[in-house]
This record gives sequence, C-alpha cells and structure tokens, in this order.
Amino acid sequence: MKILTVVGARPQFIKAAALSRALRAQSDMHEVLVHTGQHYDANMSQVFFDELEIAKPAYSLEIGSGSHGAQTGRMLEAIEQVLLTERPDWTLVFGDTNSTLAGALAAAKLHVPVAHVEAGLRSHNRRMPEELNRILTDHASDLLLTPTKLAGANLQHEGIAEQRVIQVGDVMYDASLYYTRGDTAGVLRAHDLEAGKYVLATVHRAENTDDRERLVAILSALNQLAVELPVLLPLHPRTRAVLGQLDAACHDRLRIIAPVGYLEMLALEKHARLVATDSGGVQKEAYFFGVPCVTLRAETEWQELVDSGWNRLAPPGSCDAMLSTLRAALQAQKGSAEQLYGAGDAAGRIVEALRTWTAPGIER
Ligand code: UD1
Ligand code: UDP
Repeated sequence: MKILTVVGARPQFIKAAALSRALRAQSDMHEVLVHTGQHYDANMSQVFFDELEIAKPAYSLEIGSGSHGAQTGRMLEAIEQVLLTERPDWTLVFGDTNSTLAGALAAAKLHVPVAHVEAGLRSHNRRMPEELNRILTDHASDLLLTPTKLAGANLQHEGIAEQRVIQVGDVMYDASLYYTRGDTAGVLRAHDLEAGKYVLATVHRAENTDDRERLVAILSALNQLAVELPVLLPLHPRTRAVLGQLDAACHDRLRIIAPVGYLEMLALEKHARLVATDSGGVQKEAYFFGVPCVTLRAETEWQELVDSGWNRLAPPGSCDAMLSTLRAALQAQKGSAEQLYGAGDAAGRIVEALRTWTAPGIER
C-alpha cells in the first residue's frame, strides 16, 4: 500500500514524525513524503527532520510564502503532478494549514482516497484561515481521523456519515511521549531559567499578528507579567516580521528568542510555571505536561481543555483583562486528570484504519 503524505508547516512535521515511524514498521506499507515548502527557514523546517529522524522528502515543492490564493494555488498544481506520477492508495494530510487543504483537494479531484488526521476540529470562527481549511478538508476527505469525542460530534453535526469517522486519539500526544527525553534540565540552564519559575509564551496566529492593537495588547500583558517572572518567547517569523514596527516599550522585558527545535520546546513546556499561547499544539502540550495554560484568543478548537479546567481563554482585547487572566492562571489548581487525547497510540490506530477501512459507498 502506497501512502502519500503531504506536509509543509512546523506542526505537520511533528505529527508526521509520529506517524511515519509507525508506517516504517509495516512491511506492506510504503510512504512517499511530500514537503510543500510552506515553512522553509531551517528553524521552522529542517531542524524537525534532523531531530525527529523524518525521512528526506521524496518531493520538495519549495512553494514558499505568499497570499492564501497564490500559495494554495501553487501547491495544488504541484501536488497534482506528484499524485499523477505516484498514484498512491491514500493521500494523508494533517491539521488545518494551506498545505492540508491543497493536498486534500488535489487528491480528491483525482479520486485518490484522502485521510485527514486531526479531523473535526472547529473554532466556529470562520474569519480564521485555519477554520476554512479544516471545514473544506474534512468535506473533501474520505476518512476522517479525529483526536477527540467533540471532533466527532462536530462532524456529525455537519452531516458527515459516521462510517467515515474514526476516533484515533491525538498523534501529538504520541509524539510528546516519545520525544520527551534527554537532559531537559540542560535546556533550562542554557536559557538561565529555573524549573517552575518562568512563563513560556508563543504568538503567531494571523488574527493576533496582523492586528496591531491586539498584538500590542498581548505583548504588553506578557511584558507586565515579566516584572514578576521571566517570560520566554520563542518567536515565529510571522510575528518577528512585525515586531520592529512596534514601540519597544511593549516588549522590552520579554526574553525573545528565535524558534526552537521540538525537543527543546518540549523541555521548556514541561518545566514552565505557565504557558501562554495562541498555538493549537502548544495548548495541548501544556496539558500533556500538567502545566496551566492561557490561550491568547477568544475561542479555541480544543474546547475540552477549557471545559476540563486546564486552559483559560484570554481574548486579546484589553491588556488589563489579559493580565488578570494570566495572573489567575498562575494561582491555578490542576485541572481534571481525564485522558482527553487517547492513550498515545494514535499512530498505530491510524495505520490500522488505513489498512482496513473501505469506502462505505457514499457519494462524495
Ligand atoms: C501557518 C498556518 C497555521 C499554523 C502555522 C504553524 C496557514 C493558513 N496557516 O501559519 O495554521 O498554525 O503555520 O506555525 O496555513 N515565514 C518565514 N519563514 C518560514 C515560514 C514563514 O519567514 O519558514 C514568514 C513569512 O513572512 C510568511 C509568514 O511567516 O509570509 C507566514 O507564514 P505562513 O506559512 O503563510 O503562515 P503561518 O503564520 O506560518
Ligand atoms: N514548536 C517548536 N518550536 C517553537 C514553537 C513551537 O518546536 O519554537 C512546536 C510546538 O511544541 C508544537 C508545534 O510546534 O508541537 C506547534 O506549532 P505552531 O504553534 O507553529 O502551530 P499550531 O499548532 O498552532 O498550528
């Protein structure tokens, strides 16, 4: 069985690493990896291939950055050519980026079965590009591999036949279990941090970085918090690109560093007193490590984290309101110990689903 995996952005390399390892262990399965080139800086791409031992992509499309239409369109055209050459049994896509949508759409139009890993997530905010990518990818896909119960319920609500949906758990949980090892204390020493005595933050969502007022509110709230505790901010290039246009007084106490590799990131998350982020993946990793989290957004597609008390939403309107949510989270009791994302065996379940699932004769 030939599986063509499409990746392109940082979180997809991590998700694909967990699954590729499981696929490599199958003698009857062969993976062809396609990297769209959506992310291309060494610290946004190559570092993950090196650290997580992901195979060199069979196809590097080198699409790069661009407007949504231009970037997705170029990917669509290039992925179509790869599909025509390879004719795989499955196309596998992850998450909610432009690379996800381009992979799913190109394959569906060529009648190549599509499996979507991390299907069914909804923020119910259609102004987010990710929300459109999720909805369109789910509806173009054949097999919807969901991480949670809520994701399955979202798909049911949209009329997707239940035979197309399999709850497998979250491959990011698999990845965090496998890759949290080594000298995590050394990472803290390198950053001059003490376990349990710092805040780890990330900010990259378009809705936050492209709106100057929101970004200033977020940075100012974190900057205030940094009076009490060091705040480390490994900064995504999208956010770095606009930082120079802001008054330095809103971020002068933050420890702003370049994006770090995944192993280093896991160590930093594990020992943080608090995580503050607008990232989807980082919210969950905070939960995996039992670290309180504040999500710097008005809503999250990982609603179960909020419902179970692990995560608080801080809509980036007012700096003062965000600061009080951040301070409250510093005092937080631990949330429920419920296993929200499976048992760390999502990759194995996905492999089984790819091997055994057959189309239920549903018209697409
Ligand atoms: C994308 C995804 C988002 C995901 C994020 C993970 C879409 C619509 N968004 O957002 O869902 O959470 O990846 O990190 O697909 N840039 C660089 N170097 C790079 C990559 C990007 O400098 O290696 C800069 C460029 O200026 C680029 C900007 O970052 O225009 C945004 O990159 P892009 O891939 O379009 O979106 P992300 O914000 O990374
Ligand atoms: N991550 C990383 N280095 C960083 C920031 C994040 O390795 O400097 C990892 C993080 O641990 C998580 C993933 O990247 O596994 C999340 O990616 P991102 O926040 O870019 O995207 P999202 O999850 O929001 O789509």
